[in-house]
Amino acid sequence: MSDELKDWLDRHGGDSGLTETVLAIAGGCQLIAEATRQGPLIGLVGSAGSSNVQGETQQRLDVYTNELLSTAMEGCRSVAGYASEELEEAIVSARHSSDGWHLVLFDPLDGSSNIDANISIGTIFSVLPHPEPGREPAADDFLQAGRNQLAAGYAVYGPATALVVAVAGRAASFTLNPADGEWVLTRDEIRVPTATREFAINASNERFWEAPVQRYVAECVAGVEGPRSRDFNMRWVASMVAEAHRIITRGGVFLYPRDNKEPRKAGRLRLMYEANPVAFVMAQAGAHAVTGCHPILDVKPDGLHQRVPLIFGSAEEVARIVDYHADTSANVSLQLFKTRSLYVNAHA
Ligand code: AHG
Ligand code: MN
Ligand code: MN
Repeated sequence: MSDELKDWLDRHGGDSGLTETVLAIAGGCQLIAEATRQGPLIGLVGSAGSSNVQGETQQRLDVYTNELLSTAMEGCRSVAGYASEELEEAIVSARHSSDGWHLVLFDPLDGSSNIDANISIGTIFSVLPHPEPGREPAADDFLQAGRNQLAAGYAVYGPATALVVAVAGRAASFTLNPADGEWVLTRDEIRVPTATREFAINASNERFWEAPVQRYVAECVAGVEGPRSRDFNMRWVASMVAEAHRIITRGGVFLYPRDNKEPRKAGRLRLMYEANPVAFVMAQAGAHAVTGCHPILDVKPDGLHQRVPLIFGSAEEVARIVDYHADTSANVSLQLFKTRSLYVNAHA
């Protein structure tokens, strides 16, 4: 039992009985935190030798964390069904399909490529209402827009284990006390600074980015000599969940934009397990999340494993990136843009 987390959920969770569901997820995250702390000591590194539904190689920890969270969901009476990045189809709870009132979606382990290098990884979760409690949830019941989420959040297994939980209008951060297994409330009513000078993007994909993103990053990199007239800093952890937590902590902007590296895919990150929950957390903390043009929370899902472009973080920067997407003149080639901005700067 985790008293501070339970109290917070009882106070702010509203009428939909979120306490049980989120405590069950948090319990799963606690087991994952213990497992990740031991890592190679208990054989939880390296490939599992299998692939998930998206054709990605599964790490041992992907498989193990998926089992831990699935077991936690099966044991929770408020959860009628759940879906995971690591499972092809949504699962109907064996015992609570007809009396549960929530649907839970999760990325059990975000940042798989970082496991063996002992870099921060995490778990991301989303809680949706069962549209008609009393009957087994159907596959389509999971395909709700992010706006419908009742709660969302993530755990980061870093130097400390952090759990961020968001419910309508409020987000808070808890830290796991390893001495007694309690989630201690360490930050309530989180607000993300609206302005920032820090961005996160995998710069090795620059040549594949869409033009508005090339323009945005080129302007940041140009620093005080560029059109923004200030220097920016860059970070890339390659665990989106850790980037989200940095942004929650001190502001910033994260971009995994649409690109033409694999034109078949609309983006790299998954709508239901990554983009929606992070967008919900950001929204409760005064930050934004968009595809480039549209709010993530308004995207109508057409599949459980759908991918989306994802840009989130400090409100002013995200608004600027949306403007660049709307500005057709941004579709000039990068070279033309650089020439023009240097020209403007040189003659300013
Ligand atoms: P996952 O480990 O669940 O597959 O997600 C990894 C995601 C995300 O966390 C991260 O931002 C991105 O993939 C890393 O992408 P790069 O390989 O381009 O760095
Ligand atoms: Mn992920
Ligand atoms: Mn994952």
